[in-house]
Amino acid sequence: MAERYYIRTWGCQMNERDSEVLAGQLEAMGYEPAERPEEADVVLLNTCTIRDNADQKQLGELGRLKPLKTANPRMLLGVAGCMAQVPEAVERIRRQAPFVDLVFGTHNLHKLPELIEKARRSDEMVVDVWQYAQGVQEHLPSRRSGGVRAWVNIIYGCDKYCTYCIVPYTRGRERSRRPEEILAEIRALVAQGYREITLLGQNVNSYGHDLPERYDFADLLRDVDRLPGIGWVRYMTSHPRDFTPRLIETLAETEHVCEHVHLPVQSGSDAVLKRMNRKYTVAQYLETVDRIRERIPGATLTTDIIVGFPGESEEDFEATLELVRRVRYDNAFTFVYSPRAGTVATRWLADDPTTEEEKHRRLERLNEVVYAIAREKNEALVGREFEVLVEGPSRKDPSVFTARTRGNKLVLVPGERVRAGEWARVRITRAHTWTLEAEPTGAPLAQPALAAGEAR
Ligand code: 5AD
Ligand code: SF4
Repeated sequence: MAERYYIRTWGCQMNERDSEVLAGQLEAMGYEPAERPEEADVVLLNTCTIRDNADQKQLGELGRLKPLKTANPRMLLGVAGCMAQVPEAVERIRRQAPFVDLVFGTHNLHKLPELIEKARRSDEMVVDVWQYAQGVQEHLPSRRSGGVRAWVNIIYGCDKYCTYCIVPYTRGRERSRRPEEILAEIRALVAQGYREITLLGQNVNSYGHDLPERYDFADLLRDVDRLPGIGWVRYMTSHPRDFTPRLIETLAETEHVCEHVHLPVQSGSDAVLKRMNRKYTVAQYLETVDRIRERIPGATLTTDIIVGFPGESEEDFEATLELVRRVRYDNAFTFVYSPRAGTVATRWLADDPTTEEEKHRRLERLNEVVYAIAREKNEALVGREFEVLVEGPSRKDPSVFTARTRGNKLVLVPGERVRAGEWARVRITRAHTWTLEAEPTGAPLAQPALAAGEAR
């Protein structure tokens, strides 16, 4: 019987995509997927370290896996991903989970077959973490996990060095993939029937800066948009500073690129933005938002916000509330600042007068405003018709299917009248903060009604 593997993934879509490559390599080695870690010969945790609670959860998971290791000493337990790139975190793993067999990082995923062999032969924990990436790895096997939605990396790493953020240290300097590699990958995905492509990068708008020719994210979007048979196209994540008028023009003109912009603002205070090293002001951000709304009518807008950044005053925080009320985001991911070892902002913590408790109160106050607006915006959609891409049965109730609008709104539809992986036309019947409920208005659409797009 073939040996089996189990991978658990935390964090962002970059990590999800990396796990697909880990799975692909394991399958190329002859492993088959297991439903549960109990049934697996290789268990990998692909970790995130963006905030301390991610570290905590992952260490907790290692603790829960310990009895499995004891019961089945042949089981190989590995920790991969962003946490492995942080030396302090690796020390914590050594201390708290010495039974782990293998630790490797984000830059040597492609060495998995060798690493497994090495760990199988060694009695000690094998730690193989590369500090720097060696170029871009192409043509690795992968096992996609997103149904008819596929993720495609376009740029790795980040050069922005926001003072709170660990990503430049865990993911390294920016490296763009060659456009012809990206386009070939997407062409193959379209041929295999994938309906939605999400272009991935920590900062997709910097795509191409490091290429020898003049070719940027807007050029790439235009080329992807022109591929025969392409369905919907999304992209994650954008930095407001690089969200240029030229890019907005491209988004307005392309047919297949969805009308959803995730534009992390982080704070509504210029003083905080400056110390975050975000390199834009609130006024510049608002100008970009206004331009997006003017040129892409009906676009949904979401964001990320951090409260309790070192030195954030009550007035700074109120400026963030003000910005949220002004922009009226469709929704937002909100976080309390979490100190990350090695980042600049941790130096300012000693002088920070705001208590952890107060920071959590700020988060609650912010969420009240964000969620009330999200709900109002969703309620305004009741009665309107949208084209959605149906994903499949929802986790809670398999008779209800999840689907998404071009604006990336999550819609629940009765399963019997739609087909997983197909487009459908629906009418919104009820609104909640994070989801919409809808009824199909006709037969499933085999082809996207491209000209129709989202109701405007
Ligand atoms: N503390 C809290 N939130 C953070 N983020 C990134 N680093 C930190 C940190 N140290 C948030 C930012 C980013 C999102 C992915 O995570 O809002 O946009
Ligand atoms: Fe987490 Fe950042 Fe790594 Fe993604 S890149 S898994 S968000 S630390």
